[in-house]
Amino acid sequence: MRKKIVAGNWKMNTTVPEGVELAKAVKEKSAAVPAGIGLIVAVPFTHIVPVSEVLKGSRVGLSAENCADKEKGAYTGEVSVDMLVSAGCNYTILGHSERRQYYGETDEKLVAKTRLALDAGLGVILCVGENLSQREAGNHFKVVTEQIENVLFNFTAEDLSKIIVAYEPVWAIGTGKTATSDQAEEIHACIRKVIAGKFGEKAADDVTILYGGSCKPANAKELFACPDIDGGLIGGAALKADDFIQIALSY
Ligand code: PGA
Repeated sequence: MRKKIVAGNWKMNTTVPEGVELAKAVKEKSAAVPAGIGLIVAVPFTHIVPVSEVLKGSRVGLSAENCADKEKGAYTGEVSVDMLVSAGCNYTILGHSERRQYYGETDEKLVAKTRLALDAGLGVILCVGENLSQREAGNHFKVVTEQIENVLFNFTAEDLSKIIVAYEPVWAIGTGKTATSDQAEEIHACIRKVIAGKFGEKAADDVTILYGGSCKPANAKELFACPDIDGGLIGGAALKADDFIQIALSY
């Protein structure tokens, strides 16, 4: 049976001391969340070492928000998968729409990053999602299908077992506009169908697909009630430990 997961994406927020406090609060409050629900926080690079110290021995997984598309060497400003593992990460987010939109992240680069991450033993949270004009043009199924094909289809069913997919409609991220549960469910079901077509029903049934985009305590319950929504990737609401945990308690 696939895992249910609630992951926080802190993005470029909090100083190191603030991040450490937030991690402590999440760890402390995580005891209230049923054991079957996985918790992950994705933090800025500078926060990984101190936050991993805080989370040591806890049930909360630690993720980076990105990684380099090269193994090592003369790539000033980049952070490799080996660095992330040695700093205490269990996962990395890849392909977040903000990376695709502002930093030229292509599907091709995502294949390289995913390969490096999996080889290093990191789980991957792979983000896909259409922007507003793509949705308004009725191309959302096509866009998301192509993103899945372009990246995931380069991997095996075994690799897929270490990949979490996050559907994040770009028009819903940080805008306060949430996809309705029907809008989210129909894309999640489509993603699962595309995965089934390539990797088989069992692999598709086992893959965790998170929803992201203005998910908050007030709407998490309705979203998580959908059969193909297996949790959330939470931005703004993950910056408050109470809200983040409240969302995880929405199952
Ligand atoms: P949001 O961000 O919850 O602030 O909309 C979600 C995300 O981008 O991961």
